[in-house]
Amino acid sequence: MRVLVITGAGVSAESGIPTFRGKDGYWRNLDPAKLATPEAFAKDPGLVWQWYRERRQRIRNAQPNPAHKAIAKLAQHAHEFMLVTQNVDDLHARAGLPKETMVQIHGDIFVTRCSDCDFQFRDTGRGGSPEPPAPRTIYPNSGRLGSIAPTSAQPDQEQEDLPRCPRCGALMRPGVVWFGEQLDSRKIYIVEDYLARGDVDLTFVVGTTALFGYIVDWATRARGRNGELVEVNPDETPLSQFATKLYREPATKVLPRLVNEMLAG
Ligand code: OAD
Repeated sequence: MRVLVITGAGVSAESGIPTFRGKDGYWRNLDPAKLATPEAFAKDPGLVWQWYRERRQRIRNAQPNPAHKAIAKLAQHAHEFMLVTQNVDDLHARAGLPKETMVQIHGDIFVTRCSDCDFQFRDTGRGGSPEPPAPRTIYPNSGRLGSIAPTSAQPDQEQEDLPRCPRCGALMRPGVVWFGEQLDSRKIYIVEDYLARGDVDLTFVVGTTALFGYIVDWATRARGRNGELVEVNPDETPLSQFATKLYREPATKVLPRLVNEMLAG
C-alpha cells in the first residue's frame, strides 16, 4: 500500500505546542501569522527571534504524542510511505519516523540560517548543555546560537545583539518558511516525485486548516479517483469536501485506533 500523510499544527497540539490559528495560538497578544513574515523580521528581528527561541524551548520540552507514534508505526508497515508536514517541530522524527520518509515543507525550527548567504547550521540544543539563556555573541565554531535581544533594548542595541552570520555578517534567521516566501524547490520535487511514481492508496490529512493551495492540491491529487482521503480534524476545512472519510476528533484519539485496525486487518 502507498500512503501519504499530511500533517499540520493540530497533530502537535496535544503535545502542548500551540496551533497557529487556534485560541491558544496567540503569543503575547500577537498574531503568529503576522510574526511569521519577512516584514515582521525586517521591522523587529529581536521580537521575531524571541518568539522562535520560546517556541524552540517549548518544542524541546514537549514529547511526541500517540498520534505522532501511530504515524511512525504506519510508516513501518506501509509498502511505500511519505509524510509531508507543515510543522517545523521535530516531534515526528522523535516519534521514530525515519527522516528520509519525511518532508518538512515549511522548514525546521532548529535550523538557523543566514538571511543573505547560504550559511546555516542546525542545533536542537539537546547535545549536552541546553541553549544558553542570554549570551550576547554567536560562537560560530560551536555552531551554537546564543543571542537574542531583550524586548526592552533600544532598537540599535537590539540589532547589535542579534546573531550574525560568521561568513558575511548579515542577520541570521530561523530556517523556516515565512508567509510570502517560496517553498524549497527540492522539497516540492520530492513530493511531486512521490505522487508521480504511482497511485496513492491512502492519504491522511491530520490537524491542518489546509489554507494553502499546495496542501489541498497534493491531498486531492494523491487521492485521485480510487484512493481514500481521510481527514482527522475536529473542525471542517477546505479539504473536508474531498474526503472519503471524516473523523471529527482529536488526532490522538483517532490515529492510534485507525492504525491498529489497519494493521490488524
Ligand atoms: P493551524 O493552526 O492553521 O490549524 C490547526 C488545525 O488543527 C485546525 O484545523 C484545528 O481544527 C486542528 N486541530 C486542533 N487540535 C487538533 C487535534 N488535537 N487533533 C487534530 N486536529 C486538531 O495550523 P496549520 O494548518 O498547520 O506556516 O497551519 C499551516 C501553516 O500556517 C503553518 O505551517 C504555518 C502557519 O502560518 C508557516 O509559517 C509558513
